[in-house]
Amino acid sequence: MFSNKFFSALNITNNKELLSFSKITKIPVQKLRMYNDEGILPFESDLKIILDELGINDFEFKLKLGILDNEIINTLTNYATEINNLIKKDKNSGTTKQFKKIKPVFSTQYGQLFQEDCLSLMRNLPSNSVDLIFADPPFNLNKLYESKINDKLTKNDYLQWTEKWILECIRLLKEGGAFFIWNLPIWNTHISSILNKYLNFRHWIAVDIKNQLPIPNKLYPSHYSLLYYTKGNKPNTFNQERLPLEICKKCGSDIKDYGGYKNKLNINGLTLSDVWKDISPVRHSKYKTRESNQLPVNLLERIISISTNENDVIFDPFGGSGTTYIVSEILKRNWIGSEIGPVDSIVKRFNDLEFHKEQIQEIQDKKNVLFTEEMRKLRVKKGLWLPENFK
Ligand SMILES: C[S@@+](CC[C@H](N)C(=O)[O-])C[C@H]1O[C@@H](n2cnc3c(N)ncnc32)[C@H](O)[C@@H]1O
Repeated sequence: MFSNKFFSALNITNNKELLSFSKITKIPVQKLRMYNDEGILPFESDLKIILDELGINDFEFKLKLGILDNEIINTLTNYATEINNLIKKDKNSGTTKQFKKIKPVFSTQYGQLFQEDCLSLMRNLPSNSVDLIFADPPFNLNKLYESKINDKLTKNDYLQWTEKWILECIRLLKEGGAFFIWNLPIWNTHISSILNKYLNFRHWIAVDIKNQLPIPNKLYPSHYSLLYYTKGNKPNTFNQERLPLEICKKCGSDIKDYGGYKNKLNINGLTLSDVWKDISPVRHSKYKTRESNQLPVNLLERIISISTNENDVIFDPFGGSGTTYIVSEILKRNWIGSEIGPVDSIVKRFNDLEFHKEQIQEIQDKKNVLFTEEMRKLRVKKGLWLPENFK
């Protein structure tokens, strides 16, 4: 905790110094910790006290914290040459990238899986070579992963690591390629601010999945965030997806009243929106081995179908139980994957490709139609309208 930028700027390296700073400034320790842990600028009155105590102005303090508002960025931009001259001596002092020959631990007709840290794998992959990147990184929730990775980094360290792998991903992406990132909304607000500097925003998709119990004094968190960006304005591929009408599962009747518009409905279904309500968490899958980490197959089927075509190249840096890889294989997309921990659960899923093929077939039968076969039968039985009534 003492490695964060805020405490560094205050020259605080241990609890004793923290207590002493709190005593001098009369800012409670708890508040100082909040500024440090959240990486936010101290509120107005505290800021004034801190600047007086440090004897510096807010420009220098913000630089030390790495909080670069547009005014600071404009100033830095204006002095770019001078700043570069000032720090030139460090230009070549960065660590040289370590390249090592990496071999896949598992290969299939379409894909290659590497048991590696995604960063070292990516350094070995060529720029502009991937059509779609899907990433479902650890959420830094202190979860115990089989790979024993540290899932409780400081906010600062988590975001620094996040920026590193994102920048490598962006390098790999082809122009027109798509980048989807799955995370909690709180992290995706930060991730968006990284992506906005390099890529084009397309959607913040709210995937309606209740993942925890209601929290006192807060709204009930009921969506995951799925960011969707492309490299450049124009995506190389965007295959429109359509969903069936929502109907009552028991009686088959319409849930929404379409009044006189029924004949205007597209027979291939309703246009998919940026709120996805039909993705349910994996609970009883035959292949659910890593409790709660495995993403639903229909989520990946949708992402891959929207943004790629057969034979395109897909990369997922965080393998987990390999949902992206299995769906890519079945949809005939080339795939590259990395998983830093054990990969047995991924390989196991590939041993039963037929099971997953059936799953995907079922998903595909239920999309791009106004009524699924099952719905249609129910509506015929109940004498309810069908699109052909309007021809
Ligand atoms: C949230 S899980 C991914 C789950 C996956 N989407 C699925 O549906 O099965 C994240 C995975 O990333 C792996 N991981 C964490 N850090 C990594 C790294 N630096 N390189 C590669 N894999 C990493 C973890 O071991 C974990 O299995």
